[in-house]
Amino acid sequence: MQIKKVSRIDEPFSVVGFGCWASGGEWNDTNDLDSMKAMQRAVDLGVNFFDVAPVYGLGHAEEVLGEALKGRRQQVMIGSKCGLLWDDRGRISNNLTAESMHVEIDDSLRRFQTDYIDLYQLHWPDLDTPIEETISALEQIRHMGKIRYYGVSNFSLSLTFKAMELGHVASYQGLYNMLERNPDSYHSIPLDYRTEREILPLCEDYGLAFLPYSPLFQGLLADSFQASDNFDEHDIRSNNPKLRGELFQNYFEKRKRLDSFAQQIGKPLHQVAINWLIAHPAVTSIICGAQTAEQVQQNIESVSWQLSEDMLTEIDTILQSLH
Ligand SMILES: NC(=O)c1ccc[n+]([C@@H]2O[C@H](COP(=O)([O-])OP(=O)(O)OC[C@H]3O[C@@H](n4cnc5c(N)ncnc54)[C@H](OP(=O)(O)O)[C@@H]3O)[C@@H](O)[C@H]2O)c1
Repeated sequence: MQIKKVSRIDEPFSVVGFGCWASGGEWNDTNDLDSMKAMQRAVDLGVNFFDVAPVYGLGHAEEVLGEALKGRRQQVMIGSKCGLLWDDRGRISNNLTAESMHVEIDDSLRRFQTDYIDLYQLHWPDLDTPIEETISALEQIRHMGKIRYYGVSNFSLSLTFKAMELGHVASYQGLYNMLERNPDSYHSIPLDYRTEREILPLCEDYGLAFLPYSPLFQGLLADSFQASDNFDEHDIRSNNPKLRGELFQNYFEKRKRLDSFAQQIGKPLHQVAINWLIAHPAVTSIICGAQTAEQVQQNIESVSWQLSEDMLTEIDTILQSLH
C-alpha cells in the first residue's frame, strides 16, 4: 500500500481508503456480512482510513464498521461526520448547532463502540447556524478527547477559509473523479465549490487532506457498469440524475472513451480511475465504496502500477475532448 501525508494530520493515510455508504443498506444487494468482510479485507491489505457518516443507513453503516473493526480499532483511522439529522420518517435536515453536535458525537461513538473518532467532518454546510458556533463546538469536542481532528465537506471556498480562520481544519471532502472534475451538482443538490479549480489548490497550499468522494462515479467508472439495469429503484443511485435518462447516456458515452483507453493499456477502468486520482498531489486517500472483498482487492491492486506521464497526458486529452 502507498501512503500520503499532509502537514495538518500526524498519521499518513493509505492512498486507497474505504467509503462505507453502501454498507448502510441503501444500495443494491448490500448485506452486513459482505460489508464486514470487505472492510476486514481492506484492513488486511493496508487500508487505514474508513469514511462513514451517521446518515448512511440512518446509523447502520457506523454500527457495521464498528463491528468489523473490533480488535483492530487502533490500526485504522475512522472518519465520520455530523450535520445531517433524520426524523422518524427518514427525512433529512441540516443541523450544525453546538447542541445537536454534542448529541451526534455521543450517538456515533456508541454505534462504533469506540471512545474516539479520528476525523470528524462537517457533512454539508448549515447556513442557518453561525460557523463560529460550529467550529467552537468542534474545538470543545476535541478537547473532550472524543475526536482527534476535524474537517469539512461540500463547503464553499469562502466558508472553508472562514472555518480555517476559526479553528484547525484538517481535511476537505468533495466530489471528484475523472468525469466530475469541477461539478456543479451532486444528485440534485447544487454545489457551490469547484473541486479541481478551487479546492485542490487550497488543500495543497495549506496542507489539508483532500478526500475525493464518489471516486468511481458510484460505479460508472468501474469495469462492470453496463449501459442499463445497473441498479433497481430502491438503490440510492437511482436518485442520481447523472445516472439515468439522457444525462446518463451522455456520461456513458464518455465512459466508453475512457474504457477504450483502459483496454488499450490492458488495465481495468476502475484502476485507471483510482490511479488518475492518486497521481494528483493534493489527493490524499481515495475513499472507494465497495460491497465485496473482491472489489476491495481489485481496487487496492491499483497501487501495483502507475500511470506514466504519457498516459496522464493522453487521459487529459481525452477528458478535454469530452463535452
Ligand atoms: N461527503 C459527501 O457528501 C459524500 C457523498 C457521497 C459519498 N461520500 C463518501 O464517498 C464514498 C465513496 O463514494 P460512493 O460510495 O458514492 O461511490 P464510488 O466509490 O464512486 O463507487 C462505489 C461503487 O462502485 C462499484 N465498484 C467499486 N469497486 C469496484 C470494482 N472493483 N469492480 C466493480 N465495481 C466496483 C460498486 O458498485 P456496485 O455496488 O454496483 O457493485 C461500488 O458500490 C462513500 O461510501 C462515502 O463514504 C461522501
